[in-house]
Amino acid sequence: MNTVVILGIESSCDESSAAVSFNTGIRSNLIATQKIHETFGGVVPELASRAHQLHILPVVSEALHQANISKNELHAIAFTRGPGLMGSLLVGCSFAKSLSAALDIPLIEVNHMHAHVLAHFIESGRPVPSFPFLCLTVSGGHTQIVLVHDHFNMEIIGETLDDAAGEAFDKTAKILGLPYPGGPVVDKLAQLGNPHAFKFTTPHAPGLNFSFSGLKTAILYFIRDAVKKDEHFAQKHLPDICASVQHTIVSYLLSKLEQAAAKHGISDIAIAGGVSANSGLRKALEAMKEKNGWNIFIPEFQYCTDNAAMIAVSGYFKYLKKDFTDLSVSPAAGLDFHQSS
Ligand code: KG4
Ligand code: ZN
Repeated sequence: MNTVVILGIESSCDESSAAVSFNTGIRSNLIATQKIHETFGGVVPELASRAHQLHILPVVSEALHQANISKNELHAIAFTRGPGLMGSLLVGCSFAKSLSAALDIPLIEVNHMHAHVLAHFIESGRPVPSFPFLCLTVSGGHTQIVLVHDHFNMEIIGETLDDAAGEAFDKTAKILGLPYPGGPVVDKLAQLGNPHAFKFTTPHAPGLNFSFSGLKTAILYFIRDAVKKDEHFAQKHLPDICASVQHTIVSYLLSKLEQAAAKHGISDIAIAGGVSANSGLRKALEAMKEKNGWNIFIPEFQYCTDNAAMIAVSGYFKYLKKDFTDLSVSPAAGLDFHQSS
């Protein structure tokens, strides 16, 4: 079969991204990060959708340019249908629909959470997981343990009952007065601190599920009490606090992943989503590889956080099945995991 060339478009949150794939290989992957949200300490949906409107055309043009192709060489356009912010999704969805109509090529809808998992199949010279495998998808909006039967058949076997792991990082940063998004900042500081300096109780949730909302309150009270005794406590102990919080989150994630692997007898273990960029999580997973004899799979850094390369490659697998969408499609902010597979 000839090479399939797909344009992927991702606009579910605050990254406007476009990528061109040749089968599972990526020829370009452009990401325009919206800096505007830093001022507000979190993503402002209305500003996000306006920024997507400004970014979408230059990002797509540059993705085609860097891939060294013209739009007439595309075989299909894949876009994120959901889940995400409605205003943001609308921009990517409308753009993808218009371009596919103008070029008269198929349109492919992609579930953002499936795409994070399928990022493992982007050609990168690294081994790919074998089916069935487990994927811990940890992002700013989701925390899921996914049992991946094949490219299209995935099952959530554990998930957060409240906050996502990324939110736990972001909220910790906010409490400590650190900039948004907090995850990468906490990660950087944590590398300079002692993970055992302070002890936070591991959260509880039944089975393979997670809960992170209590951790945020525990950190808030811990800082509040310590600041009563020394008003500069947080500034003085930033690396130790970050290292201790990160250690608590990472140990919690991995203990559940270990339970899931044992329960399902699976040893191919992957991580995905923005938090899979975390150096503590990557290191701890490496340690699990030795301890449990796991084969571990960590996506390249640029494919961990939101990106259109994962949308393009997910689109490729659907293209092979001729799983196309018609122009009546609309974005779905709360798209269910089991829809659109
Ligand atoms: O997958 P993603 O880019 O967007 C969503 O779909 O949510 O994930 C963003 C989340 C944010 O909460 C961000 O703070 C977190 O991923 N994140 C990190 C790191 N890099 C990004 N969390 C911890 N350590 C990091 N290095
Ligand atoms: Zn994401």
